[in-house]
Parts: sequence; C-alpha cells; structure tokens
Amino acid sequence: MWWAGSRRVLRSTQRSGLIQLSGGSGVTDSGDGEVKRLRPHLFTTPIFYVNAAPHLGHVYSALQADVQHRYAALCGRETWLSTGTDEHGMKVQQAALAQGAAPHSLCSSVSMQFRSVFDALGISYTDFVRTSEPRHHLAVTRFWETLAQRGYIYKGNYQGWYSTSDEAFLSEGQMAESTDPSGNKIRVSVESGHQVHWMSEENYMFRLSSLQPALLRWLQEDPICPAPFLRVVRRWLEEEELPDLSISRQRERLSWGIPVPNDPSHTVYVWLDALVNYLTAAGYPDPSTGPWGPSTHLLGKDILRFHAVYWPAFLLAAGLPPPQKLLVHSHWTCEGVKMSKSLRNVVDPMECVRRYTRDGLRYFLLRHGAPERDSDFSHQTARSLLNAELADALGGLLNRCTAPAINPAQHWPRYHPTSVPPSAHAELQGLLGVAQELPAEVETRVRNFQVNKALEAVDGGVRRTNAFFHSQAPWKLRGGGAEQEAWADSVLYLTLEALRLFGTLLQPAVPGLAHAILMRLGVDPWERTLVGNWFVAATQGEGCKFQGRPLGQDRGLLFPRLDEQRGA
Ligand code: ME8
Ligand code: MG
Repeated sequence: MWWAGSRRVLRSTQRSGLIQLSGGSGVTDSGDGEVKRLRPHLFTTPIFYVNAAPHLGHVYSALQADVQHRYAALCGRETWLSTGTDEHGMKVQQAALAQGAAPHSLCSSVSMQFRSVFDALGISYTDFVRTSEPRHHLAVTRFWETLAQRGYIYKGNYQGWYSTSDEAFLSEGQMAESTDPSGNKIRVSVESGHQVHWMSEENYMFRLSSLQPALLRWLQEDPICPAPFLRVVRRWLEEEELPDLSISRQRERLSWGIPVPNDPSHTVYVWLDALVNYLTAAGYPDPSTGPWGPSTHLLGKDILRFHAVYWPAFLLAAGLPPPQKLLVHSHWTCEGVKMSKSLRNVVDPMECVRRYTRDGLRYFLLRHGAPERDSDFSHQTARSLLNAELADALGGLLNRCTAPAINPAQHWPRYHPTSVPPSAHAELQGLLGVAQELPAEVETRVRNFQVNKALEAVDGGVRRTNAFFHSQAPWKLRGGGAEQEAWADSVLYLTLEALRLFGTLLQPAVPGLAHAILMRLGVDPWERTLVGNWFVAATQGEGCKFQGRPLGQDRGLLFPRLDEQRGA
C-alpha cells in the first residue's frame, strides 16, 4: 500500500542507562533510492458542536491529542494537530432558533470560546477547522463528487428514527421505550438517552453495506485503542448487517449546512460534513499537499460508531486509506453522571484553570482520567492529587536538591564513582534502574494511550528519588571529610539528573512546569528532546556535560500547595 511507508515505528534503544531514541527525521527512502519527504502525521480532536459552551470533557479530548502531538515532537517527529468546531446541522440550527440568533453568529461566538479555552489550556493545535469555512466547503463538495463518481451514492426513500441531539440514525436495536416529563411514551437512544423522531424523506444514500468486508479487513490492523473499544466495533461489524446510510436531508428542513453538489434542494448530512474536516486539515483536495496521509483521531466513546464505521467506510469508498489509529476515551462524570451540555452538569474549564493553574488542571485530567473507564471529577480529588504529586513530591524534591543550604555554589556537582558507600549500593542500583527504564516505559504508555500510566510511572520515579535523597541525607555528609563530601556531591548529581529526566518526560503533559524545572536545572531549550538525550551518563564512566554547569535562577515554589479556598 502506498501509505505503508510512513507507518514507521519509533525505536528506542538503551545501553546501560544511556537512552537514545531514533526515528523521525521526516525523510524516508522509498526503496528506489529516491528520498521523499514524509507527510507529517496528523493528530486530531473531534470538532465540537457549537450549540453550547465548552466543558471539561471537550478539554480532555484536546489535551490527550496535545500530549500525543507534543510527545511526537519530543521524539523528533514532525506532526500536525488539528481541532475545530462542527457548525452545521439540525442541532445547531435548532440551538440558534431557540436563542433567537442567526446560526452564523452563534457559530462564530461559540467557536471563539472553544479557541480561547484551548489557548488557556495550552493546546498546541496547528490548525483550527471551522466547518463554515470556504476551504471546508470545497473539501466536502469534492469528497461528495468523488463518492458519487465511484458509484457509492444513490437516491432512495429513507424512513427511520433520528436523534437530533446525536445527529444519528438509529436501528431498532439501538432504541428503547421511555416516558417524557409529561408522561408521554417516547423512544430514546439506548446509548445517549436522547429522544428520537420518525423521519421519512427522499435522501441521497451511501452504499455503506457494500463496505462491510473492507471494514472488517481494516479492523485486522488493530486500529482502535484501548482494546475494549476494538472489541465493541468488531461485534458491530461481525454481528450486525450494516444498512446503507442516508447522507442528505431535504434543504427545506435543514438549511444550515452544505448543499449537495448539483442538487441544492438537499443538504449534506452533518456527520459526513463533520468527518471530512480531517481531510480539510490535511489540505484536501489541494493536489500540491498530496493525498491524505497517516492520521490518529482522538475521540470520546460516544462517537465511536461514526469514527470506526462511517469514517473508514467513507475514506475507503473515496479510494483513500482508512485512519491509522483511533484513540478512544471514556467520559468524565460529575458525581457519577456523564458531564454533558444537555444535562447541565458541566464543569467550566476556565474556572478550573483559575483554581488549579493551566498545568495543574492538565496534570489532574491526564493523571486521573483513564481512557478505558469513566472518571469522576471532584475538587476534593483534584486538590489532594495535585498537592501530593506536584506540590509535595515533585516540587519538594526540586526545592530540596537545589536549596542554597545544600548547594551553596548553585551548580551541578561532579559524580565520583568510587565514593559509593557499600550501604548505598542497592538503593543506587534501584535509582539507576528508574533512569534506565522510565523513558521506554513512558514511550510505551503514551503510544498505547495510557498517559495516566505514563504519569504514574514518572511519579513513581519521583518518589523513589525522594526516598534515595532522604536516606542518603547529603546535608549530613557535608563537613565529614573528603570521601563523604564526594558521596554528597554524587547524591546531588544523581538527584539533579533524575529531575532532568522527569522534567524532560513531563514536557508533553505539563509544559509550563517542565519548563520551570528545566530552567532551574540550567538545561537549555535545545537540550530537552528525547533524541540522543542521555541520562546519568557519568555513572557509566561517560562524560556528562552537566557536571559543573550553573543552576538556573531560583524562581520560588514549583507548585504552591492548594488550600481549601483555592482548591476546595
Ligand atoms: O459529537 N467526557 O461533538 P460534541 C469526556 N461534533 N469527553 C467528552 C465528554 C465527557 N463528559 N463530553 C464530550 C460531536 N466529550 C461532533 C463530533 S467529529 C468529526 C464531530 C468530548 O460537541 C468527547 O471527545 O458533542 C466527545 O466525543 C466529544 O467531546 C463530543 O463533542
Ligand atoms: Mg455530544
């Protein structure tokens, strides 16, 4: 397959404590001796509906995508990160009507709010797609024309149940009976609980049913992570017969959307419109940017069917490669109930940034959120986690080992291999083990969409280093003779190296805190990558350029403890 060349795996090689990552030069040998530039890998977030303001759940998806994007950069790979807003469809049309606003002005103001929240959170997006933009209109039109030319679209009479809240067509098995607040019997979506309505009109249909075998082949490439979600999709595709999909609505009912090419009496179905945003972000249909390249989509489990069935089917039908990876996460709940705009139980991300700081909120969401199961948000949990791991463990370690009382010269001391007392051997080996294994563990965890576990591993390393520092107590060794001074210097060197490792690895998750740590350690910006970065080199008899280097300026506490008022 022509895109297979870019499926390169980042290799990590380790030689006794020296960590070097290879891969990601951005160029590849195509096999015929011609060296071609690789297209950057595209990471995406869902594009969010503009019917209401952003909440913590949206921020979580964007953060997870941001970490993938930043981690790739740390490994020397060039990647893109796109996000944006989903502005068409019945749901937005109805929200505008209810507010007495013109759809386009509602879209512009809420889209701006999403942008501000992502900026406040430090999401390093390289593109922000609005589906109301002309470039996206062009991409959808061209994509539709391609599907039509390839014989995947026909006109048919569609009858079925539709959920406007989910903008989804539902089959019998996906619905249940319920009663509305006034006691009337209604039908709702089993998955979302939203009410569905009968709909019957002449629509354009997409030959989804013909793509079932191709979708099953795609699933064999293991494109969905974590595994429970792959199993869900496998069940859908193995046990259900896919019906064809309605991909247009009559313009008289839905005017807020992109008209069907050559038939302005129909509007393109909002999910086809929305999914094509990923192609828009990749430059489609501009031939100079080349075809659609490798992509990783981050999404919540609520929109799995659209991304794991419809989206690869659309791409395959258009003759384009299906997505390389879907990273799917579960939901944030608030006291056990899914946080959602329609349930009005959302947590405001801006308010959380004010309470916890940008990096405090990033750390909490990434560390406490587990993609494979729902996570509950509470201020109490956030406060105790941030106090324990950022203020006490990490901040405390940095503070102690750079304190002028213990390091009056404010520089990196030398490591003295012969100074290790026999009583410290076991603990030293433990610490070196952390330095040796942590980068590979973090890499595996990030790649497997377990950023929470990556951060847990770093926290484990911090705790181990704190324990080492305390039991060796370098402050007690000062003034105790040359041998003891040498061991005190070595303990400090090791602790600073461990912190340099933690600071380097924490950059994708908490860029601001990582920057503060690395500044304090005197590590220059170009020394913060994982490519060719060696840690604890001096313990391996290698030179370490940090020995003798001045520490950076002391800028106070890394992360002040949250009290009841600030983090209650
Ligand atoms: O579905 N916990 O947009 P949307 C975690 N426009 N994540 C949550 C969440 C929660 N409680 N609530 C929402 C749409 N999310 C479409 C997407 S993509 C081509 C079109 C996140 O505004 C999660 O990523 O309803 C979920 O999938 C997404 O927001 C849905 O946002
Ligand atoms: Mg939704």
